[in-house]
Amino acid sequence: MKDYDVYFDGQWLKYHEANVPLLTHSLHYGFGVFEGVRSYATKQGTAIFRLQEHSERLLRSAAILNLPVTQSIDELNQAQREVLRRNHLTNAYLRPLIFLGEGSMSLDPKAAPVHLMIVAWPWKNLHHEHEAGINVLTTPYRRQSGAPELLKAKAIGHYLTSGMALQAAKHQGANEALLLDAEGFVCEGSGQNLFMIKDNYLVTPASQYALEGITRASVLKIAQDLGMETCETLFNLEALYQADAVFLTGTASELVPVLSLDGHVYNSGTHPLVRQLMQRFSAIVNGEHDEYQAWLSYI
Ligand SMILES: Cc1ncc(COP(=O)(O)O)c(C=O)c1O
Repeated sequence: MKDYDVYFDGQWLKYHEANVPLLTHSLHYGFGVFEGVRSYATKQGTAIFRLQEHSERLLRSAAILNLPVTQSIDELNQAQREVLRRNHLTNAYLRPLIFLGEGSMSLDPKAAPVHLMIVAWPWKNLHHEHEAGINVLTTPYRRQSGAPELLKAKAIGHYLTSGMALQAAKHQGANEALLLDAEGFVCEGSGQNLFMIKDNYLVTPASQYALEGITRASVLKIAQDLGMETCETLFNLEALYQADAVFLTGTASELVPVLSLDGHVYNSGTHPLVRQLMQRFSAIVNGEHDEYQAWLSYI
């Protein structure tokens, strides 16, 4: 990583100076929450997409894990703008992370200090090498059920399941993994929400075990504004196999068509509704739609 300026507990340090001790609590037990945030070079200047919503989710995630955060939402927003300005970044990915530091090796997180860091670096779409779409597999890994409120937090620990599923899918030649819940309902990708199109309906899982994605909420709103019928409901793999088109959404991936799922082939990349949503989303994040300017925070 280049020696960017990074935010660490209210200070600005060089990346190489901002280190943590080996007995950092989160390194051992996984207490921590984070965000993935994107900025775009628009004609009106660099803008962060849905900054306020990301900061709100970060603080909600911290509250779910009982991590006391001293920074206000304004400080958080300001620091994210600042990290881009200081490093002259335009198309970038921002990673705010709240974690527990050195202070106690007890599993009880109370005795460990809470830290907040923000790092940013240049970014292209995660699947930019697969613009036409990606191949997805289900794997034996399931979203943990039993503590649905915990899964509403974007917590470090959840990404063990995501990473294992992604690894298993890639091992079999796919690009991405789809996770189901313990009952077999469709949840989400390793780091993306899922949508399917069936008979011109745009459907996304209402699963309590999927993250409340900010791109997902944006796509639902854009679709409704375009006059599409949308629906949030529970459905299983059989229903998904019968879909006309499938795509994934996420900050890192944006909207990415699914070409196949477990060998079932879709024409998602050429489906007119998918194309329309992809084009509209791209225009919005690039500042080309006045009615969505409220979603952009210029730095
Ligand atoms: C597990 C998971 N689901 C869904 C998403 C998509 O959420 P968002 O659109 O807010 O990036 C992400 C990425 O943040 C994720 O990690």
